[in-house]
Amino acid sequence: MSMSNNLVTVENMSEAEVLHKIKLAQAFKAGKKIKLTRPVFAMNLFFENSTRTHTSFDMAERRLGMQVLEFNDQTSSLTKGETLADTIKTIQAIGLDFAVIRHPENEYYSELLKQKLDISIVNGGDGSGQHPSQSLLDMMTIYEEFGTFKGLKVVIAGDLNHSRVARSNMELLNHLGAEVYFSGPDQWYDEKFDKFGKHISIEKAAEIVDVMMLLRVQKERLGKELDDFDETDYHAKFGLTKSRYQLMKKSAIIMHPAPVNRGIEIDSDLVEADKSRIFKQMTNGMYMRMAILTDILESKGLIASNSKEI
Ligand code: CP
Repeated sequence: MSMSNNLVTVENMSEAEVLHKIKLAQAFKAGKKIKLTRPVFAMNLFFENSTRTHTSFDMAERRLGMQVLEFNDQTSSLTKGETLADTIKTIQAIGLDFAVIRHPENEYYSELLKQKLDISIVNGGDGSGQHPSQSLLDMMTIYEEFGTFKGLKVVIAGDLNHSRVARSNMELLNHLGAEVYFSGPDQWYDEKFDKFGKHISIEKAAEIVDVMMLLRVQKERLGKELDDFDETDYHAKFGLTKSRYQLMKKSAIIMHPAPVNRGIEIDSDLVEADKSRIFKQMTNGMYMRMAILTDILESKGLIASNSKEI
């Protein structure tokens, strides 16, 4: 399997690589440990707020024995006009091995990859582009539930246009053989999504799907649209209400990348419902991030050979 020093997108990720990462994450969940050949240093550079991705990368790095250096965009020299590329080259020069980056600009990483740096770039989410670690933790959660992707009916519902999670997941799920559907307001649907699946009502979705993948309404990206946005109306027309929950198949599950707008895309009581895997996704996220970092450590020759089978 081709391993890379960077992970910025799940586009073109093979089924074998996805399954390998799921198995590795499951091994960490079962207690697997690794030893590093030398001290390894990571910095998590978040230019958008985060609870899950930032904390779980930080935890994953520490559990793998890496040392984590703090970064604050407000006190870094980016405020004096330093470019992102120069910041990354600077921390590489100082001895950092990993930069985990979340950034509001789509494909911010293209410029960094062109420079063929030694420091590894891991994308913690770019604008409305990609969220590869979220997508892989979502695949792990689905796989743990159903043991396959082939033929599974998955709806991605809600604020599709603004969502990097939707973009990563529609591509990967389609590629893995799932039957993808979309649901939500027309204005948040782009005909570019047609090639991945059909747009259906939330009632129909509730009746037929195995996985109900809800998206957060991203108020911070709505701009002027926010003035006309009515939370109660949205919940009634497009949200997972208690009555729609009753339509779902016995074996179906609910997923959401979180943070959740309780009462908007999902009834607040359903966040902890039997079918909800929302907090399991967060637990799996830490182990999947250990797997993602481990594959890069392996590719860089930083894992002691006597610890690989532990
Ligand atoms: N799902 C997700 O990316 O959450 P955070 O924004 O809290 O990292």
